This record gives sequence, C-alpha cells and structure tokens, in this order.
Amino acid sequence: MENKMKKIGILGSGLVAQTLGAGFIKHGYEVMLGTRDKSKLTDWQAGDGNGAQIGSFTEAATFGEIIVLAAKGTAAKTVLELAGAENIKGKTVIDAVNPIADVAPENGVLTYFTTINESLMEQFQTAYPQTIFVKAFNSVGSAFMVNPTFESKPTMFICGNNEEAKKEVSEILDIFGWETADFGMVESARAIEPLCMLWCIPGIAKNEWTHAFKLLKL
Ligand SMILES: NC(=O)c1ccc[n+]([C@@H]2O[C@H](COP(=O)([O-])OP(=O)(O)OC[C@H]3O[C@@H](n4cnc5c(N)ncnc54)[C@H](OP(=O)(O)O)[C@@H]3O)[C@@H](O)[C@H]2O)c1
Repeated sequence: MENKMKKIGILGSGLVAQTLGAGFIKHGYEVMLGTRDKSKLTDWQAGDGNGAQIGSFTEAATFGEIIVLAAKGTAAKTVLELAGAENIKGKTVIDAVNPIADVAPENGVLTYFTTINESLMEQFQTAYPQTIFVKAFNSVGSAFMVNPTFESKPTMFICGNNEEAKKEVSEILDIFGWETADFGMVESARAIEPLCMLWCIPGIAKNEWTHAFKLLKL
C-alpha cells in the first residue's frame, strides 16, 4: 500500500507519540519522533521504539511525509511553530490533540480552553492554510490506539477538509484495527474534540478506562 512507503514524523514524546510511533514501526513505516528533549525518549527507543529516529520538532516535521501532532493541547500551537510552517506545508497532519485546559476536572468532566463553536483544529487550519489537518486518534486512550482487541472493531471519528487526506488516514486506521467514520469538514472537530471529554468521564469518575466508541448503523 502506498501509505506504507510514507515516512511518519510525530510531533510529540508523550504516550500518544510513543504508542503511535511504535504502531507505525510495527506496520513497516519509517518513523521520527520530535521533542525539545531527546533524552526523554532514550528508554523508549531502546524498547518499543526500536527502529525509530528521534529529532527536534523541526527535524521530525521535515522528515515526515505524513505528520502526527501529539502535543499537549495548551502547547500545540507552540509545537507547530517550532516544527515550522514550511516543513508542514502541503502535508497531511493527523491531529490527535485535545484542547484540555490546565484546571481540575469537574465531577469527571474535563475543561476545554476552546469554545463549542470553534475547535482547536479549526484554529490550526486557519493558521496553516497550506497544511491539511485531519482529526483522528483523539477520542480513545493511547492504550487502544493500535490494534485494540475489543469484541468488535471500534470506530474512529475523523474530520477535515481534504477527501484524499481523509482516505489516506482511514487506510492507516484500517491497518491499526479501526473502522473510520468520516464526519465531515474541519468544523466537525467542534463535535469530535469533545468526544475525549465523554471518553474520560468513566475514567476520571470511576477509574474505568477500557472502552472505545462504536457507531451503529442500519
Ligand atoms: N494520553 C492519551 O491517552 C491521549 C489520548 C487521545 C488524545 N490525547 C491527546 O494527545 C496529545 C498528546 O498527549 P500525551 O498524553 O501523549 O502527551 P502530553 O503530555 O499531553 O503532551 C506531551 C507533548 O507536549 C509537548 N509540550 C508540553 N508542553 C510544551 C511546551 N510548553 N512547549 C512545547 N511543547 C510542549 C511535549 O514536548 P517535549 O517532547 O518537548 O517535552 C510533548 O511532546 C494531547 O493533546 C492529548 O490531549 C491523549
């Protein structure tokens, strides 16, 4: 498959970056993770991340033919700036970011720093019009992002303005054991980003973290 030939640049060093990085390596992709501090990935690179390269945010953005944005919500704009507009121009950015504010949850419900009528991905898409953002991987815990073993295939809700890019992302999701629900253009991130809030409620309130969403259709 054509995607398999594409290099993956992951902007992030946390659980999502490490999990997706290891998943892409497992499925035969070349991977570079980007971080401000390469030393924090030394252990990962010696274990699950064996075969991955580690670089700066700029280096990972330059390396990747497909980019994964896996930064803390409040820092994601800074990370894109550090990656460099020229280095993500014309590329698909798989956006796993959730706009979680730095405040404690209320009765299990996370607080977002965005509003219901403007998602974070819309802000990214406006700031980088020549980059193709596709929301994905934001609505499930990192433990289930790569080939999860639920009773049936879970659904990943995605959105973005470019049909070809969404097809490319759905092919990756297929390899990663997910069915894809393409829920429209960039504005749909207003609904998809809060799926993380919903997903986290049983976790924060009852320490239940082992679920994923499934879309049922007639
Ligand atoms: N954890 C999950 O299960 C999960 C599931 C779905 C979606 N998400 C979303 O995915 C994203 C990544 O989550 P995560 O849990 O893997 O890690 P995270 O702790 O939310 O983010 C870690 C990344 O953010 C960067 N960062 C933090 N503060 C920064 C700053 N001031 N300036 C520049 N970069 C900064 C770090 O850079 P350095 O590498 O330089 O330290 C690191 O790469 C988040 O938006 C999260 O909401 C998480």
